[in-house]
Amino acid sequence: MGILSRSRKAWWKGSYSGLILRMRHGEIVCDDALNFLNSLNEQCADIVFLDPPFNLGKRYGGCSEKEDRLKEDSYLKYMTAILWRSTAVLKPGGALYLYHLPKWAMRLGKVLDGDLTFRHWIAISMKNGFVRQQYLHPAHYALLYYTKGQPGSFRRPRIPLARCRKCGQTIKDYGGYKKYVKDGLNLSDFWEDISPVRHKKFKHRPSNELPPKIPMRVIETSGRKGGLLVDPFAGAGTALVAAAAFGMRFVACDKERAFLRIMEQRLACLKEKNGGMKGGP
Ligand SMILES: C[S@@+](CC[C@H](N)C(=O)[O-])C[C@H]1O[C@@H](n2cnc3c(N)ncnc32)[C@H](O)[C@@H]1O
Repeated sequence: MGILSRSRKAWWKGSYSGLILRMRHGEIVCDDALNFLNSLNEQCADIVFLDPPFNLGKRYGGCSEKEDRLKEDSYLKYMTAILWRSTAVLKPGGALYLYHLPKWAMRLGKVLDGDLTFRHWIAISMKNGFVRQQYLHPAHYALLYYTKGQPGSFRRPRIPLARCRKCGQTIKDYGGYKKYVKDGLNLSDFWEDISPVRHKKFKHRPSNELPPKIPMRVIETSGRKGGLLVDPFAGAGTALVAAAAFGMRFVACDKERAFLRIMEQRLACLKEKNGGMKGGP
């Protein structure tokens, strides 16, 4: 593990000369996401995972609220450039996931349609959305799932049945179908068992951080051992921890230098077990 100022790893177009944190399973840089994507080779990624700032005036590290409150057309232009370049760095058969608000998932999905193949709009239940005048109560985030042609890797993870905390019985009645769900339920495109907004005691930094289950399911569905995950808005590194725990490599970026240290510490907690990585995300 260490800080470098040059790397010749195969994923870089030429050699990357910015600040690089080199870890056992990959590299993390401090840069603008678009510069980062432009520095990568085309068709290098098995998964591109995008959890961008939502343009809601949030503060990330040292940045001001204004930086995350662009005019809508400027934000759309920047995100369009991010999606075009993400599409270029994706391998044939690779998967692109974009986590966003439904309003932006609609617009950004249009940018992806045509170059990539739409697979799913995964609705992730939001537990504490605020009611706004003239709108229905917002109750989900969107996780768009696209592939470049036919998926190179696809598995349908199984998830545990929801049970009553007191009696341990399943909450739903599966009637005569119990034998089909004894090993868990097939993952659907509606994830109601996850809370995207996390209490601060579970986070590694004050600003947004995904629950580990989201990138873990993405990687279980589309990951390939030894394959490459690209994360241009890595934040506290939740997707990188999931990738390393699964046995994927990663190359990632965040424009806030302080977050690189957080990612370094989280990734250092991973322990080698049975030839694979077991993580404490
Ligand atoms: C929603 S958070 C990502 C959270 C991350 N998935 C996690 O679970 O920790 C968005 C991240 O993008 C970073 N960011 C914002 N604008 C950026 C830009 N132009 N280039 C690179 N990173 C940026 C922010 O610093 C923030 O950490």
